Amino acid sequence: MFTSTIGAPITARTPTQSAATYQSITVTPASPHIGAEVTDIDLTQPLSERQIQEVKDAFTRYQVLFFRDQKISFEDQIRFAGLFGPLGKHVGAQTISKSTDHPLVRKFHYDETSQRISGESWHSDQSCAPMPPLGSMLYNHTIPPDGGGDTMFASTYAAYEALSEPMKNFLSGLTATHDGARVFGPGTPKSSHPIITRHPESGRKGIFVNWDFTSHINELPRSESEAILKFLYRHIGRDEWACRFRWQAHSIAFWDNRCAQHKALWDYWPNVRSGFRVQIEGVQAPIPG
Ligand code: SIN
Repeated sequence: MFTSTIGAPITARTPTQSAATYQSITVTPASPHIGAEVTDIDLTQPLSERQIQEVKDAFTRYQVLFFRDQKISFEDQIRFAGLFGPLGKHVGAQTISKSTDHPLVRKFHYDETSQRISGESWHSDQSCAPMPPLGSMLYNHTIPPDGGGDTMFASTYAAYEALSEPMKNFLSGLTATHDGARVFGPGTPKSSHPIITRHPESGRKGIFVNWDFTSHINELPRSESEAILKFLYRHIGRDEWACRFRWQAHSIAFWDNRCAQHKALWDYWPNVRSGFRVQIEGVQAPIPG
C-alpha cells in the first residue's frame, strides 16, 4: 500500500517562541513560531529611544511584526523603516510592483486589470542579490471589501529546528544558486548562498532556499538537487510554523528576510488591494550556519 508522507506528522519538535514583556509598547504573539502584533504605538510620530529599542527586540524575536490603524505617509514609512538600516532599491529588472515618485517606495497595487500579483509562492525577497534585503515593510491602505489578500509567513528557524540531525548535517556546508531571472527576467542578479544560515542578531539557524529564486544546490547533481529542494520547499511551507496575516486598511507587515519567508494570496480579484513597500538594505551576505 502506498502511504503518502505529505502532511505527515513531524517527528522533530521545535520550541515555541518565548513571550516577551515590553514597557513602551504592547506585543502580542500571532502564532507559536512566528509573528507578533504591536500595539500602543503611533508610527506617524517619531518613536522614543525606548520604543525603538523594544520594536527592534520584538523584530529579532518574532521575525515579522504587524501594526494596525497606522495612516502613514511615505515620510513616516521611510522614517520608521530607516531605524533598521539604510533603505535600498529593488534589484529586479522587470517587476510587477511599480515605482512611485519616491525612489525608495514601491507601489503594490492590484485590481481588476491585474494579470498577476507579486509574491504568490513562498520566498524571501530578492534572495538573488549578493546581499539580499534585510527586511521589507508593506503598508496597505486599501483592502478588498469582502476579505482576502492575506499574507502567509513561515519561520525558517522553526523549519530548520524540526529537521532531523542527519538532515541538518547533510545540508550544513552546502550552497545554492538563487537566480533572479526566474522571477524578474534577464539582467537581474544571480548569487550563491549557504543553505543553512545563521541570523546575525539572534544567532539562530534557518533554512535559506526558496521556491521563487533558488534554482539548484551547487554541490549536487541536478536530480538530487531537485529532490532535496522539493522536500525543503514543502517542509518550510508547512502549516506548523506559519502564520496568516489578515490585513485591514492601514495595516503594516514588517518582515525579516533572513529568517522568514512569505507568500501573498490572490483570492480577491477583481477587488482592489493597494499599498506601498520599502525595503531595508542587506548589509552583509547570508552567514553560513
Ligand atoms: C511580496 O512582497 O512578496 C508581496 C507580499 C504581499 O503583497 O502580501
